[in-house]
This record gives sequence, structure tokens and C-alpha cells, in this order.
Amino acid sequence: MGEAARLNQDLGADVIDINMGCPAKKVVGTLAGSAIMRDEDLATRILRAVKAAVSIPVTLKMRTGRDHANRNAPRLARIAEDVGIAMITVHGRTRDQAFQGRADRKFIYNVKKSVQVPVIANGDIESAADARDMLRQSGADGVMIGRAVYGRPWLIGAVSSALRGLPGAGRAPTRAERHDIVQVHYAAMLAHYGSELGCRIARKHLGWYLTREGIDDEVRRDLMRDDSPRRVQDRLTRIYDDLERCAA
Ligand SMILES: Cc1cc2nc3c(=O)[nH]c(=O)nc-3n(C[C@H](O)[C@H](O)[C@H](O)COP(=O)(O)O)c2cc1C
Repeated sequence: MGEAARLNQDLGADVIDINMGCPAKKVVGTLAGSAIMRDEDLATRILRAVKAAVSIPVTLKMRTGRDHANRNAPRLARIAEDVGIAMITVHGRTRDQAFQGRADRKFIYNVKKSVQVPVIANGDIESAADARDMLRQSGADGVMIGRAVYGRPWLIGAVSSALRGLPGAGRAPTRAERHDIVQVHYAAMLAHYGSELGCRIARKHLGWYLTREGIDDEVRRDLMRDDSPRRVQDRLTRIYDDLERCAA
């Protein structure tokens, strides 16, 4: 982990965020992700090794614990702070919960009151109201939003503006603006990953965008299977034009 952190620092990373949150079987099965939380010695050694290896900030992302009876996030947070970890994000579920139930906003408060470093609260935030409620119940210094941003990348800016009381914060993008965002996002992925890989990586994003527009499953799947970026771009234009016409 220390070596990997150093390599990434050399490649220009600004921050190393250690992931002790992932509940996926293939990750937990190799004792990685949230499995690390149950072995506090191992967790401490990893935190120390990474912290010693780099000069950029090291942060930690974790769950509340392994299961309801072993919610050791507050203790691990203290260990992390002692090691010099700069910020801690807590997803308010245990590993055993995976994505079931609701994130426990109040439990995150136990982490917040255990440390001085900033604590970021995460789990099930879909709106500014959710973010406010999470901040109130957890006492956290900030929030992290995950799944709600799928196909809706403007949500982070909208929630952030609303929390800061900026004017126009509640305004959702129009369909024409959403079309622009999809096309810009798609072009950026092709430019970044190259056309072949970009086209493949973009599929899930296009799926999320179109699901949120209420596009027919068949049309959506068909578009996601298309391996010609040019055709995908034209089809997106047609889909959004049709939506505009239907709404008119
Ligand atoms: C497909 C997927 C991949 C994820 N990958 C990571 C990851 O690599 N590292 C991490 O810390 N969390 C990961 N998470 C967890 C999210 O960061 C977040 O903690 C979780 O989804 C709860 O927040 P949300 O309700 O806002 O989505 C992943 C979640 C999903 C759904």
C-alpha cells in the first residue's frame, strides 16, 4: 500500500484516499475493502505505511464496521487520526449491510465526536434536504454523494449551492442543457480513454442518463450496445430531440 501510494504521488495524485468501505465479495474475499476494518492491527499498519510513504494528504473512507455488533468506526477513526490521517469519510452502513437498509446518520456522530480531523458523512443522500438532515444528525463537516449522481452529475453543484444558500440553487438543468451535458461527458470520455475504451466505459453512464429521462429499456440497451461513437452521438441527439418534441 505504501509503495502504491508513492507511485500515485509520483504520477501527480493530490490525495491518497484509503478505501476500507467496499463490501463487494471479490474485494472482501481477499481481505481488502471493508474487510480491513475487522482487523484493527492490519488497518493500523496500512494507515502507517501509507502515511509514511507520501507527503500529500492521506484520507480514509470506511463503513461503520463489519456488522451491527462490531461497529468500530469511532475507534478506527481515532487510530487514523493518531497516525496523521487528514480526513475521514464514513458511509453509515456496516459491511454486512452492503447496500441494504438505510445509512445510519446518527451513528456517524459517534465518529465525529471521536476525532478533531474533518469527518465527511456518506450514504443515501439524494437532495439538499437529505444533505442538511445528514449534517444535522451526524454533526459531520461535509457530505459525500455517490449513487444519486449517476446520470445527474450536476446534483453535486446543486446540493452544494443550496447548502450555501446561493441564488438559483434549486434550478434543475433544462432538457436541452441535460443533452449538452451528456454529449460533453461522452466526448470527454472518448478523448480521455481513446475511442474504443471510452465508448465501452461510457455505456453505463449513457444508461444512467437515459434511465433518468425515462427512455424505453430497449432503446437504451440498443444504444449502449452500439460501438460507433459517431452513431452513438447522433442517436443521442435524436433521442433528446424526440423527447423535446413529445414534451412540446
Ligand atoms: C458501483 C459502486 C462502486 C463503488 N466503489 C467504491 C470505491 O471504489 N471506493 C469507495 O470508497 N467506495 C465505493 N463505493 C461506495 C460509495 O462511495 C458510497 O460509499 C456508497 O455508494 C454510499 O453512498 P451513496 O448512498 O451516496 O451511494 C462504490 C459504490 C458503488 C455503488
